[in-house]
Amino acid sequence: MLDLFADDAPWEEPLAEGATILRRFAREEAAALMAGVLQVSQQAPFRHMVTPGGYTMSVAMTNCGALGWSTNQHGYLYSPQDSLTGQPWPPIPEVFQSICHRASMAAGYPDFEPDACLINRYAAGTKLSLHQDKDEPNLRQPIVSVSLGLPAIFQFGGLQRGDPLQRVMLEHGDVVVWGGFSRLFYHGILPLKPGFHPLTDQFRYNLTFRRAS
Ligand code: SIN
Ligand code: FE2
Repeated sequence: MLDLFADDAPWEEPLAEGATILRRFAREEAAALMAGVLQVSQQAPFRHMVTPGGYTMSVAMTNCGALGWSTNQHGYLYSPQDSLTGQPWPPIPEVFQSICHRASMAAGYPDFEPDACLINRYAAGTKLSLHQDKDEPNLRQPIVSVSLGLPAIFQFGGLQRGDPLQRVMLEHGDVVVWGGFSRLFYHGILPLKPGFHPLTDQFRYNLTFRRAS
């Protein structure tokens, strides 16, 4: 049971209009979430995607859900199949659905119904450059992001690439939800510091839930 009076009880930190950080929200489920990550990656292995510009991303990615995010020579797309295996992406594990549902409720997006979950894996030095999540047709649906393992610095800006950036540390079990006015805000991850986490070894994992149809 979640004990709201315990020292490690979750708390909420507003980030921007429409965006909030639910600190420690996924801690209790973290081990089950990691088991889900490993299960998904047995069917759909982590890989380093190549951007349309020919740059190999330092973050390793895979997906689960009806649709998965990927790259090709022409751009970024959601597709029902994993181009590496030719198979459909594995289904979103129950424990993923459950944490995503509770987080989107807590953040004020009770109608969120994700059909895609991108799983990112960061090793020491891995970064994710500033970008917008804009490949989804329905921008009324938020993004829900769950962080596991090593901490990372998340940058959260505004609608323009050059807008001032907030820098917040995301730690094990933290969940960020952004939608509404901040749905298209630029964001990214600074290069990961080396470290060791008992659940994830030398890695940080991030799950981002999206509505891609
Ligand atoms: C993303 O923007 O897709 C992931 C952000 C993160 O790793 O926290
Ligand atoms: Fe993103």
